[in-house]
Amino acid sequence: MDRQIAIKVSGDIYPNDSTAVSCHNMASTALCNVVNRSGQGSEWLGWQDIPYEFTDDSYNDLVETADRLRVLDALVVVGIGGSYLGTRALVALLSDSENNNYPEIMYAGYHLSGKSFSRLKKKLEGKDFGVIVISKSGTTIEPAISYRLLNNLMAEKLNDKEITLRTVYITDPENGALRKMSVEKGVKCFCIPRSVGGRYSVLSPVGMLPALIAGINIKEIMRGATDVLNSVKNKQGAFNNIIEYVAARNALYDEGRKIEIFGSFDSDFSYMLRWWQQLFGESEGKDGKGLFPACVDFTTDLHSLGQFIQQGDRSFFETMLVVDNPEECVEIPNSDIHYDGLNYLAGKDIEFVNKQALEGTYKAHNDGGVPLIRVEINDLTEYTVGQFVMFMQLACAASGYVLGVNPFDQPGVEDYKRNMKRLLNC
Ligand code: PA5
Repeated sequence: MDRQIAIKVSGDIYPNDSTAVSCHNMASTALCNVVNRSGQGSEWLGWQDIPYEFTDDSYNDLVETADRLRVLDALVVVGIGGSYLGTRALVALLSDSENNNYPEIMYAGYHLSGKSFSRLKKKLEGKDFGVIVISKSGTTIEPAISYRLLNNLMAEKLNDKEITLRTVYITDPENGALRKMSVEKGVKCFCIPRSVGGRYSVLSPVGMLPALIAGINIKEIMRGATDVLNSVKNKQGAFNNIIEYVAARNALYDEGRKIEIFGSFDSDFSYMLRWWQQLFGESEGKDGKGLFPACVDFTTDLHSLGQFIQQGDRSFFETMLVVDNPEECVEIPNSDIHYDGLNYLAGKDIEFVNKQALEGTYKAHNDGGVPLIRVEINDLTEYTVGQFVMFMQLACAASGYVLGVNPFDQPGVEDYKRNMKRLLNC
């Protein structure tokens, strides 16, 4: 098995040894309840089956559709929340955006900004495009409105049959508006399993179809996720590392650290952080409990939030992604005309400097009284990203159980929808 994600903690995490032991015991029980499906909301644990159920047939079905859509200039992925963030994260992190063999992936349905939609419309002018609509319910207002607009745009140039061939739905296997329309219109449809909620769905066709179209090796993503699951079931590496993460973050929460700031030094990881943020925020933040998940992009945010993290209010802790072997590809040149005194770096890769920035920041924040959790990952490839996704999904579910909440529902999200619908007179 390839190298697994490792968790290392530094700073004062536990007030004493007996608290450390009891936090680890609670995390271990919670993780076993997730794996054995014996905790709250256990009917929503089907995401643990996805990598095992990923057969050659399901892969070939995705490939067939991906090949049909790949000839287009652009594809608009329509979705919000769990039906959007993971997909965008995979494409941003793993696709080769310079490669012209793949259609440009664009996004809609994740907001209600008219201006932003007009901009998208302009970008699509003169382009042959298709649409992947992702919505488990099929009635979420943001993607539903965007899909209407995009469908009308296609209808300006294409007939019904052509539109159908360029449209794909990813939705509930039986119910919902999209499922009904797919039957009526004959649109190709992929399933989000019933037992998988939006924010745990990235390894289903939700993330896998757009990733495949973008040239990403999804078999490797599944291999990474499977290795984490196997390791947890066998109580090996990933099992202990997930416990370490869950125990530390819950101990810090109990000590009054109510915010977890997750930082990364890879700008392409930004959307993955947003995925992590949604996963934990929507899963834990309920019943008056939960850590507020915040994310920062380093070194960019060292020049904004860095001051606060170093010396501001101490109500947070930091989790930092450490990539051991980042891809090195940009050598710093020598220069006789720049007087910045940086010629000592000539010939070094920019990632070497980034690594020193990471270690320097880690030490500074630790010295500034910030407890730190280090998430060490070998590199950022399909395999390790698959590991990361499954690792965090398991950690999130287990953390929710330690906190005493159901990590799979989101009753609070309905409140704004109810108010908005009342104001819209529906
Ligand atoms: O995680 C979740 O369950 C949510 O974020 C949903 O994914 C989001 O609200 C979109 O819902 P739907 O897929 O039904 O359009």
